Amino acid sequence: MTKIAVFVGSLRKDSYNKSLAKNIERLSPEGVEFDYIDMDLPLYNQDLDGDMPAKVVTMKQQIEDADGVLFVTPEYNRSFSGVIKNAIDWASRPWGQSSFTGKPVAIVGASMGALGTTQAQQALRNVALFLDMKLMGQPELYFNAASGLDENGKVVEASEDFLRGFAEAFAKHVESNK
Ligand SMILES: Cc1cc2nc3c(=O)[nH]c(=O)nc-3n(C[C@H](O)[C@H](O)[C@H](O)COP(=O)(O)O)c2cc1C
Repeated sequence: MTKIAVFVGSLRKDSYNKSLAKNIERLSPEGVEFDYIDMDLPLYNQDLDGDMPAKVVTMKQQIEDADGVLFVTPEYNRSFSGVIKNAIDWASRPWGQSSFTGKPVAIVGASMGALGTTQAQQALRNVALFLDMKLMGQPELYFNAASGLDENGKVVEASEDFLRGFAEAFAKHVESNK
């Protein structure tokens, strides 16, 4: 069993990024299990580092129990969403007790535009490396939701093989780095 802690950086009910995560989960090899983080967290407050909110304690445990991490981020104003940053800031604390250290990780994202999430993902790579995560460099996945998802949020047939290939590469990356 390979467990992946999944961070979807949009709280929107019909989020394309949530659909992308669900499609990657469906196309992952047998034995890969996705554990979705509850991203609806309070705003990070350093005063609470010694007494973290229950949802944050749960999130940190989910990450620590996972073999790998998948960030699925929208692009907001040419960076990744504050929802993702907020979760990362909590899970990186208290100082010296980051839940991310050494975890294999991949970063993907969906938007309506052809270039969407390139800058969001690049900014997030910087954070993942700072947090000493083991980042998968290839394949990259910049998902165009306008052409890549049908009306039920399922990936179109033309993109399915690419997503499956990504999911297989990520599973291998996690297995060989956990
Ligand atoms: C505050 C905000 C900023 C945005 N900035 C960008 C951007 O810089 N680049 C981009 O491709 N899309 C941008 N978008 C459009 C998002 O890609 C689009 O809303 C997308 O559907 C968000 O992902 P979701 O469907 O998972 O919620 C922005 C949307 C919002 C709400």
